[in-house]
Amino acid sequence: MNADTVATNGGAIAGAAGVGETVFLTGATGFLGSEILKRIIETHPRSKLALLVRSTARETARERVDKLMARVFSQGEATRHAERVEVVEGDISLRGAGMDSERSAKLAARIDHVIHCAASVRFDLPLDVARRDNTEGTRNILQFAERMPRLARFDYIGTAFVAGDRRGVIREDELDVGQRFSNSYEQTKMEAEKLVRRFGERFPTAIYRPSIVVGNSKTGETSTFQGFYQAVQFYRRIFRGRFLVLPLPVDPSTPVDLVPVDYVVDALFALIASERSLGGCFHLTSGPGATCTADELLKLLAEFTGVKQPPYVSKRAYQGLVRPVLGNALFWNKRINVARRAEVYMPYAWSNLIFDKTRAAAILDGAGIKTPHARTYFVKLLEYQAKATAAV
Ligand SMILES: NC(=O)c1ccc[n+]([C@@H]2O[C@H](COP(=O)([O-])OP(=O)(O)OC[C@H]3O[C@@H](n4cnc5c(N)ncnc54)[C@H](OP(=O)(O)O)[C@@H]3O)[C@@H](O)[C@H]2O)c1
Repeated sequence: MNADTVATNGGAIAGAAGVGETVFLTGATGFLGSEILKRIIETHPRSKLALLVRSTARETARERVDKLMARVFSQGEATRHAERVEVVEGDISLRGAGMDSERSAKLAARIDHVIHCAASVRFDLPLDVARRDNTEGTRNILQFAERMPRLARFDYIGTAFVAGDRRGVIREDELDVGQRFSNSYEQTKMEAEKLVRRFGERFPTAIYRPSIVVGNSKTGETSTFQGFYQAVQFYRRIFRGRFLVLPLPVDPSTPVDLVPVDYVVDALFALIASERSLGGCFHLTSGPGATCTADELLKLLAEFTGVKQPPYVSKRAYQGLVRPVLGNALFWNKRINVARRAEVYMPYAWSNLIFDKTRAAAILDGAGIKTPHARTYFVKLLEYQAKATAAV
């Protein structure tokens, strides 16, 4: 497998289908990781989990996992499942992932499946800071995995936005084609995926690239209000006033590839269950058939919030005319400050990326996993967010 441009090679390295007996999971305290944890506990009763979790200034890793179990499961279930969950204190950005070396050697001997989901997902970090978690963090987990004699699968959660500033159709086998990046997140996830592809030349590996993960398609439920939800919050705060009408720097025809978390988890586990996924890279995206344009979503958003749709402005006009005005201290106010913070999402309003998912569909169609269209759940997401934020 060529680490830069070539597709992974479809099962050339012996590995196994399905969730392992002892799964080492990173990122379990996060949005996607907690759903992965829940799915394994609920549907793979013979699997045990070792969760790599860092302590914080206020809580130990153990306390964080106890809290996580109490959030994800009912009280009785959390107690019942506790013995299947082992807490490994660590930090992916540190050498040896910050694990105690004796413990790490014993763990490496037992683990047969790694799911590496942890990452720093902020768009505004300096490159060297993002690299610590994403590039070096992934390198540390790969080095740990190399020491596992029983390793049957290494599953890595990447991102579709390793595509950076490319436009048009992006294939699952493509990675580095000389694209540039909108932020340190995209760049360091690309660097990390390169490392995973190289590792995949020697070990059974699969790579998954979600797009913009949002809440549950049936209920709207989510455990995070970052990313998409923060962009919605910004929209409300910037455009609700009547006196200062700011233009919205969006290409109305750009597809906005949202993907609901229940679909991501269903698709991930269907792929893990298939030996054919080994050696592959898969877009866990909505793709061309299930994605709305920015204009469609903004119309729904305006209708839901009652905030009048602002006029669109081109990227060039925004940068050349609007941005300099926003930068002028004379015009400074709270709303403008929010508008400037919202600029981290601008690249995604212009991206025109279409994530081809032929390889994922070749396995998921057979497993009966269908991608719900964004039109069917978008308002549910907004309803859930509105309710949850009103309650706090
Ligand atoms: N959400 C999306 O829209 C989206 C889209 C595409 C791809 N992805 C990918 O999906 C994965 C999960 O993202 P998410 O949305 O679930 O993010 P999240 O909610 O921010 O969770 C990130 C997880 O990574 C852990 N982590 C970060 N740095 C760490 C470190 N140095 N040591 C140990 N753990 C560390 C966090 O632990 P703490 O709790 O200690 O911070 C947390 O558990 C990432 O790889 C991301 O690139 C997400």
